[in-house]
Amino acid sequence: MKKIEAIVRPSRLEPLKEALFAVEVKGMSISEVHGCGNQHGWKEYYRGSEVIVNTLPKVKFEIVVTDDQVNEIIQVIVKTAQTGQVGDGKIFITPVEQVVRIRTSESGNIAV
Ligand SMILES: Nc1ncnc2c1ncn2[C@@H]1O[C@H](COP(=O)(O)OP(=O)(O)OP(=O)(O)O)[C@@H](O)[C@H]1O
Ligand SMILES: [Mg+2]
Repeated sequence: MKKIEAIVRPSRLEPLKEALFAVEVKGMSISEVHGCGNQHGWKEYYRGSEVIVNTLPKVKFEIVVTDDQVNEIIQVIVKTAQTGQVGDGKIFITPVEQVVRIRTSESGNIAV
């Protein structure tokens, strides 16, 4: 099992949710985050002084899937969230040791 964390533009929230439902992911968690990437924000004037505005609102999807689903989900995320402009976001994949469905005590792939 793997956890796919995708940080995307807020405008991609609804389209990505729909696209993920269409490929039958079992569950997902979505949160609002603030962050920066390679560009470390941008410069703005505030009360006459130049200040660095260094984080931007983004949306984070966390999706735990079985190993055989990973490539498909990555493709869906890239296809749905890519504009080609800086700030499109990033995908991080990490191993998940165990999943437990609390209601039934089931664990492993069937609990995802
Ligand atoms: N190395 C990282 N670690 C944790 N979060 C990151 C990292 N890189 C990007 N993020 C998150 O992803 C968001 C979008 O990153 P962004 O797309 O700007 O990455 P980038 O590397 O600067 O790529 P680009 O050059 O296309 O802008 C950031 O605001 C931050 O929330
Ligand atoms: Mg960037």
